[in-house]
Amino acid sequence: NVVGLVGCPFSGGQPRSGVDLIESGLVQDVEDLGWKVDFAGADTLVSPLVSDTPDPDIGKLKKPRLVSNVNKEVAERVYSHASKGQLTVTLGGDHSLAMGTVSGTFKAYPDAALIWVDAHADINTPLTTPSGNLHGCPVSFLLGLPGTSKEEIPEFGWIEPVLKPERLVYIGLRDIDEGERKILKENNIKCFTMHHVDKYGIGKVVDMALEHVGTDRPIHLSFDVARFTSQVRGGLTFREGHYICETLAETGRLVSLDIMEINPSLGAGAHDVKQTVDVGRSLVRCALGETLV
Ligand code: ARG
Ligand code: MN
Ligand code: MN
Repeated sequence: NVVGLVGCPFSGGQPRSGVDLIESGLVQDVEDLGWKVDFAGADTLVSPLVSDTPDPDIGKLKKPRLVSNVNKEVAERVYSHASKGQLTVTLGGDHSLAMGTVSGTFKAYPDAALIWVDAHADINTPLTTPSGNLHGCPVSFLLGLPGTSKEEIPEFGWIEPVLKPERLVYIGLRDIDEGERKILKENNIKCFTMHHVDKYGIGKVVDMALEHVGTDRPIHLSFDVARFTSQVRGGLTFREGHYICETLAETGRLVSLDIMEINPSLGAGAHDVKQTVDVGRSLVRCALGETLV
């Protein structure tokens, strides 16, 4: 069994040189669990793509060409791992990178399902985004929602609408924009918010989520660890996050894993950095079967 590792320290145009998670010994962790690791190196991916070419806003969207170019590259990278039957693990980087990871995974597994673990739905369109930050928009492009078509925004024309609303499920939502709420309702997208996690418990929620997307599909898990690691009140707990990863390992159907928004060096002290990196590492290990007996 092979893990295809993609390191992508890209944050909306501010790539950082080090990939803390990889440097922390993650490759060794994965090998210790019995996997082979196929990894081309962290800086091979993003650095050549970041240029000083002007990149003016398109409507409200910030850094659109840069984000698009990086994601196109990520999609190719993920596809090349997935098409060889490797379990792709992508370490981000901001959550806009899911445009690339999900595109790459679904090209190899067209009938896959997407499980999105996040406080946010990241389903704003270029027309609804309040911030213009593309990390709040990846899901809308993958669904092909109004405002994301090749005609409307040719800069993102390479993204195919590979995702069907019924194959998408959210866990952990608690901060949804007005426009997003409307989109979620209109498209009948299954959402397990923090309210549902409290009500049913994480065990039942994950069961229901898997049942919703169908019990025999390949699964792409996109996990946003921002806040999760800094223990801001009201979100998924450490154990709830790990439980999700463990349960997906147990299904044997996980084909792609994103651990996103690991930004340990953004204004953090050494202690916070270590904590963020440790949590990211242990989520990856659980998703790769560490706790299976
Ligand atoms: N919904 C807000 C926006 O569109 C926040 C999105 C936060 N997403 C994230 N991946 N951090 O700007
Ligand atoms: Mn988030
Ligand atoms: Mn996110």
